[in-house]
Amino acid sequence: MCGIVGFTGKQNAAPILLEGLKKLEYRGYDSAGIAVCKDGVISVSKVSGRIANLCEKTENGANMPGHSGIGHTRWATHGAPTDINAHPHMSCDGRFSIVHNGIIENYLELREELTAKGYAFRSQTDTEVIVHLLEMYYDGDLKSAVMKTTSRLEGSYAIGVLCADCPGTIMAVREASPLILGIGVGENFFASDVTALVAYTRNAIYLDDGEFAELTPERITVYDCTGTVIQKPVSRITWSVEAAEKGGYEHFMLKEIMEQPRAVKSALAPRIQNDQIQLDDFSFTKEDLRGIKKIVVTACGSAYYAGCAGKYAIEKLCHIPVDVQLASELRYGEPQIDSGTLLIVLSQSGETADTIAAMKECQSLGARVLAIVNVVGSTIAKLVDNTLYTWAGPEIAVATTKGYTTQLSVLYLFAVYAAHTMELLSQQEYLRLIRELQSIPQKIQQTLDMNITLPQLAKKYNTGHSMFYIGRNTDYAAALEGALKMKEISYIHAEAYAAGELKHGTIALIDEGQSVIALCCNRHIAEKTMNNIVEVKARGAQVLALAVKGDRAVLAQADDVIYIPGLDPLFQSVAEIIPLQLLAYYAAKENGCDIDKPKNLEKSVTVE
Ligand code: BG6
Repeated sequence: MCGIVGFTGKQNAAPILLEGLKKLEYRGYDSAGIAVCKDGVISVSKVSGRIANLCEKTENGANMPGHSGIGHTRWATHGAPTDINAHPHMSCDGRFSIVHNGIIENYLELREELTAKGYAFRSQTDTEVIVHLLEMYYDGDLKSAVMKTTSRLEGSYAIGVLCADCPGTIMAVREASPLILGIGVGENFFASDVTALVAYTRNAIYLDDGEFAELTPERITVYDCTGTVIQKPVSRITWSVEAAEKGGYEHFMLKEIMEQPRAVKSALAPRIQNDQIQLDDFSFTKEDLRGIKKIVVTACGSAYYAGCAGKYAIEKLCHIPVDVQLASELRYGEPQIDSGTLLIVLSQSGETADTIAAMKECQSLGARVLAIVNVVGSTIAKLVDNTLYTWAGPEIAVATTKGYTTQLSVLYLFAVYAAHTMELLSQQEYLRLIRELQSIPQKIQQTLDMNITLPQLAKKYNTGHSMFYIGRNTDYAAALEGALKMKEISYIHAEAYAAGELKHGTIALIDEGQSVIALCCNRHIAEKTMNNIVEVKARGAQVLALAVKGDRAVLAQADDVIYIPGLDPLFQSVAEIIPLQLLAYYAAKENGCDIDKPKNLEKSVTVE
C-alpha cells in the first residue's frame, strides 16, 4: 500500500504535495518523491527513507517551483526502497511523470515488450511500465494515451499522471485502489485517502473502479472506462484525519482484519497467471526441490503459528518432512541442518532478532533459505537468495492479522508450486488446487460477512477466566494462533490444546462455565473433536464451535456455532482464523484494552 497525491492551482504545488504526503505516511514510508511542472518542464525529486528526507532535499518544496504536481510515499513491493525505485517515475523523453499505488500483475510481460521496443528501464518496479506505455501511446492526446495505457494493465492501480505538454493538468486513474478527488476554489487535488485533502477541502469525489479524471485549476472532468464524461456526486468529508487513517475503523487492527481479502489477493494473484503458479523470486529447479531431504520452518510469534498451519499442506503435497521450530529455540539448539535442508523463514517485519539469528545459524550449517517476509529490503530479505514477499502493505497494529494470513497463503502457494514442479500432481489436481488458492480471498470475505454476531459471542465467552482453544491437525494450528490473539490483545489467558490431548491431563481444568472454543473445520477429523465437545460439556463447559457452513451435526453439541465457508482442509486454517481474530478483538474492546498497542508488546522485536 502506498500513498499518492496531486495538486493543480495557483499556488506552488511542492509544499502542498509534501504536506499531503505527510498525512499519508502511515500508508507507506520507505521512500518518497514529488514531481512538478513549470513552463513545460517536469522536475522530480525523490529519496529513500521518510518524507522528512524529501522535505530536506526540496527545502520543503521551495526549490521546486511549479503550480501542478504529483507525489508518492512508498511501501515497496517490487524493488527495494532506493532512490531509483522511489516514485515518481519518468518517461524516457521526460514528457511524462507518474505515481502509482497498487500492483501491476502483468508487469513482467509488459516490461519485456517495452524493452524490446527500446524503452530504457531505470528501476526494478512494476510501476515503471506505466510511464513507458504512456510515452508509447502518446500522440498529442493525453486522455487517449491514458486510456490506451490502462487498457494494457492487469492488477490494481491508483495512478497520478503529469504531462509536460499539458501544464496545469493532472490525470487520476482508479482500478481497485482508492483514489479521491478534492474540489477546491481555483485549485483541485487527488489523493489515496481523505487525510491528505481535509486541510484544503472537505468536498470530495470518490472515483470508482475503471474511472479516470482530468483535473485543472478550474475544472474536474470524470470519465468512465469508455472515455465518456460522467457526472459524479460530490461528498462531504466528515472524518477527522485520525479516523481517515484508520479508514473509518476504530482501530488499525480492525481495519487490517477487514483488509485481509485484498491483502491475500495481492499476495496470490500476481503469482497465478494463465492457470500457472509463477514464483519469480524463487530459483529452485525441479532437481533442487527433489534434493531437499527436510524442510525446517522457523519464526516467532504468529509467524511461527503460520508455519505450524502451513506444514500440513507442504508435507501432504510435497512428501517432504517439515519441522517447524521457534527461532528462539532453534538458535540455541543442536539444529540437525545440512545442505539437504531447506529453511523457510517467516517474518512480517524481516527484522526479528531471534529469527535472524536462527537463520544465520542454519545458513552456516549449509541450509538453503527461502524467506517469506512483508517488508521489501528488510534485513532478512537482504540476507537470503530466495524471497517471496507477502505484499500485505504496512501493518500498523502490533498484533498481526493480515501479516499472518498472507504468510500462510504464500506457504500454501509454495506447497502447490513445489509439488507441481516435482511432478507430484496430476494436471487436474494442480488446477483444482489453484482454484482453491484463488478462492481464498473471497472465502475470507464471506467469513467476515457471515459473522456479525462476534461482538455478542465475545461478550458471552469472555468470562475473565482462562479460555481453552481445541482442535486437531489444521484446526489445532489455527487454534494456536487464535489463542495467541486472545492473549496478546485482551490479556485473557488462553491456551490451545490438541483436542486429543485433553484426556491426558488438561481436561482436569474444565470447571463449570469454562469457555471452550472448539475448531471443527477440518472435515476429515471434525467428528473426533465433536466428541471432545461432549466431554467438556459434560464437565460444565460452555462451547463455541467453529464449523464449515452446512455442518449441522455440530449444532447438536455446541452452545454456539460460527460457520465459515468450506476450503480444502489443507487450506482451512486461513479462513478459520478470521473469526478468532474478531473474537479476540471484541473481547479486548470489552476489556477496554489498547488494541493497536497492547501493553509490553512491540511490532517487531529487533533485540533478543
Ligand atoms: C511479535 C509481533 O513482536 O513478533 C507478532 O507482535 C509477530 O505479531 C512476531 O508475529 C514476529 O514478528 P515478525 O515481524 O518476525 O513476523
